[in-house]
Amino acid sequence: MGMTAFYGPGPSREDGIAVLRRAHELGVTLFDTAELYNQGTDANEALVGEALAPFRDQVQIATKFGNVYDANLGANRYDSRPANIRRVAENSLRHLRTDVIDVFYQHRPDPDVPVEEVAGAVGELVAEGKVRFFGLSESGPQTIRRAHATFPVSVVQTEYSLFERGVESDVLPTVHELGIGFVAYSPLGRGFLTSEVKPADEYDENDMRRVDPRWQGEDFANNKQAIDQLAAFAGAKGITPAQLALGWLLAQGEDIVPIPGTRSRTRLEENLAAAEVSLTAEDLARIHDIVPHGAHGSRYVSEHLPVWE
Ligand SMILES: NC(=O)c1ccc[n+]([C@@H]2O[C@H](COP(=O)([O-])OP(=O)(O)OC[C@H]3O[C@@H](n4cnc5c(N)ncnc54)[C@H](OP(=O)(O)O)[C@@H]3O)[C@@H](O)[C@H]2O)c1
Repeated sequence: MGMTAFYGPGPSREDGIAVLRRAHELGVTLFDTAELYNQGTDANEALVGEALAPFRDQVQIATKFGNVYDANLGANRYDSRPANIRRVAENSLRHLRTDVIDVFYQHRPDPDVPVEEVAGAVGELVAEGKVRFFGLSESGPQTIRRAHATFPVSVVQTEYSLFERGVESDVLPTVHELGIGFVAYSPLGRGFLTSEVKPADEYDENDMRRVDPRWQGEDFANNKQAIDQLAAFAGAKGITPAQLALGWLLAQGEDIVPIPGTRSRTRLEENLAAAEVSLTAEDLARIHDIVPHGAHGSRYVSEHLPVWE
């Protein structure tokens, strides 16, 4: 996502492709994109499609529909009407240079379209061989159950990290019960958990962290204090704060898949080495003491904060 959207200027196309191909070389098999992550000629999907084309059959590509930026509204618009789902699927297939989308997620619930209709529309695409698996992003327990009863949901993707623990109370128990996988997005707390963090007004004007509530005022100061303690603990273990954050997520369950984002080959290598991190029960207890409830401040400004039903 950060290659083309939300984190200020991205890398050149050449550099972006080089990072994606390096990920493949290092054994990464799951790549995550969306219609939303810049549209038109700068589509993130097109970058992903070009980069992965030489080894398409060795990787899985997940993309998302139903959440677009509407320049006329100056805001995001949700559209999960079946005709739009099909339109997005056809565009995604073209951008991704593929004949099948491995995981097709509803990016956000659409208050105007019952999830049963969404599940039915994706089910038709699966029957036609254009999509392999159906996913939901930012859905609550009842929505997950209703969708799953109509067409099997393979995976739910929602923000989950040391800083964001909201899914632990209802969403994770629901997916565990139903045998659905869980993909943890923004597992590095949008970069805060790497400890390479600065005050909101020092980010590029197109970087969403300028308005992210966790970067504001007293909440920023409290979060900075927590990350400084986590960084010291990681240092004592001989790992980086990013590796600690990813190692913690990997310790939460076999069915939890963190998808860290980076535009840098060095950071990619650092993040992937987290797969080798092993945290003891004592380590996990110490981490819990430092961040018992996650970050201070909401994970989205109120108009973008998803409501789970
Ligand atoms: N379903 C949804 O609604 C949704 C929402 C958000 C994200 N996502 C998905 O989740 C993926 C990851 O989320 P994300 O990119 O928002 O957040 P993230 O992975 O938590 O953090 C990304 C940020 O951390 C920085 N970073 C990464 N590794 C680092 C390291 N080792 N040291 C220092 N800084 C590091 C990146 O900067 P550089 O790029 O400059 O390295 C970037 O600013 C996205 O690519 C997207 O596919 C889904």
